[in-house]
Amino acid sequence: MNSLEAATQRVFNFSAGPSVLPEPVLAQVARDMMCLPGVGVSILELGHRTPPFKEILEDTVARLRALLAVPADYDVFFVQGGGRLIFSVLPMNFCLPGGVGEYLVTGTWGDCAYQEAVRSEQGRRVWTGAEAGFRTIPEPGVWTSPDAAYLHYTSNETIEGVQFPADIASCLRDAPPLVCDMSSDFLSRPIDIRQYAMAYACMQKNLGPAGATVVIARREFLERASERVPGYCRLLNHATGDLMYNTPPTFCIYVANLVLRWLEGTFGELAAVERFNRQKAACVYEALLQRPELYRLHAAPECRSQMNVTFRLPTPELEKRFLDESQARGLAFLAGHRSVGGMRASLYNALPLAAAEALSDFIAGFQP
Ligand SMILES: Cc1ncc(COP(=O)(O)O)c(C=O)c1O
Repeated sequence: MNSLEAATQRVFNFSAGPSVLPEPVLAQVARDMMCLPGVGVSILELGHRTPPFKEILEDTVARLRALLAVPADYDVFFVQGGGRLIFSVLPMNFCLPGGVGEYLVTGTWGDCAYQEAVRSEQGRRVWTGAEAGFRTIPEPGVWTSPDAAYLHYTSNETIEGVQFPADIASCLRDAPPLVCDMSSDFLSRPIDIRQYAMAYACMQKNLGPAGATVVIARREFLERASERVPGYCRLLNHATGDLMYNTPPTFCIYVANLVLRWLEGTFGELAAVERFNRQKAACVYEALLQRPELYRLHAAPECRSQMNVTFRLPTPELEKRFLDESQARGLAFLAGHRSVGGMRASLYNALPLAAAEALSDFIAGFQP
């Protein structure tokens, strides 16, 4: 049995997703699992068309709208199928015959999104960081075509730990409608949603459990999708009516509702969430930068992620020992993605400052 199997106490969870959730949220889910107060059944047993569930859904959308100041001409809705479903349906919805979607590829997820458009010969890559090992973002002023169906990018590359600034629109000239995969930095900082024709995020990082993706899109953009797009894949179908094109992921939406309440109660606004996340990231990066002979940061300084800190040690043996010893200290899931190796510390909203400080101490004290 390894130390995690034997653990009966919670550890500091640095997983990239599904990832740490706020403890008060977990406590409330556990408390109300048998019987949702005032409802008499578990959330797992509650019909999606019942008034109590409709209230949860509407309240969740309203909280997201308020936190992100979503304008009235945008829809907010949930779909299943994860981030990858959105990769697949983007060209179907928005590229007219002969049209293309453009892609800025700063890491593995952006490349997956691009490859889905390539399948139907509707993708054009306007920039890639692949040759440089996905460590950088493009310089301001990258070339885009205003007549493309959209320009897609990934605001935070979870695997490589490469993040764009929040105001990317100012870096682009004559850009087509912007579509952003915000899966791993959603709600981690303020954004101006009006920059985007569409933004989406799979839930399992900053919003809730795995199983749902939140989409925020301008209605006019969604209406570009032809009626010939298969029903589930046509995003407009999810945005219209009562937001229940099919049975929604009720448990995910319920947990997201509690996470949003926690976020509002703890931070009030996204600027405060960002300050908290910056504090955690600074604590970890500073410890790494103090020992350049031992730790090599993956991302270039100007695009180091505030959410996923990626770094390597000189040898695979040392990396293994770093992981074993950190895990023994209750610092869990620090291994990098299986495709790149090394270390990755994910510092999502719900990760406490104490976790970042404990990791920083461990980084400072690790003996090669
Ligand atoms: C930035 C980003 N986009 C997309 C995905 C894919 O999401 P899913 O596994 O829900 O399809 C991930 C998964 O971790 C991600 O980090």
